[in-house]
Amino acid sequence: MKIAMGSDHGGIHLKNHIKQFLEEKGYEVIDHGTYTEDSCDYPDFAEKVCKDVVNGESGAEKGILVCGTGIGISMAANKCKGIRAALVADVFSAKMAAEHNNANVICMGERTTGVGLAEMMVETFLTTPFAGGRHQRRIDKIMALEE
Ligand code: RB5
Repeated sequence: MKIAMGSDHGGIHLKNHIKQFLEEKGYEVIDHGTYTEDSCDYPDFAEKVCKDVVNGESGAEKGILVCGTGIGISMAANKCKGIRAALVADVFSAKMAAEHNNANVICMGERTTGVGLAEMMVETFLTTPFAGGRHQRRIDKIMALEE
């Protein structure tokens, strides 16, 4: 599975850690930056990752975004058409984001999340299937709000 990733300067270290973690597990990671610690704007990276996930050009099926808190980058991601981004800070929420909400992006904060927890949340998100059924009806209603 291909995963699109991005962060601002506030999330670069956790983004790079997760990238390495995923590559060691056999995932292909498309890293949309940022690539340096220079100050930058998280909406730019949310846009790159979300467009990649929605357009499917690179083959990325899901996205992972990191900023200082995860808040700003999740707000930006959810403005992108076709995206259901979940800000996660615990493993149960990461599981539910996939199982109930069919999230195609998760977001987290480098300044709020330890690397061990981040690894567990990412692995849970990527390996938990969407349950469908009644949840699909609710997803359809979420997506209808874009119109
Ligand atoms: C950058 O300093 C910081 O504001 C950003 O990474 C993020 O936490 C915003 O929500």
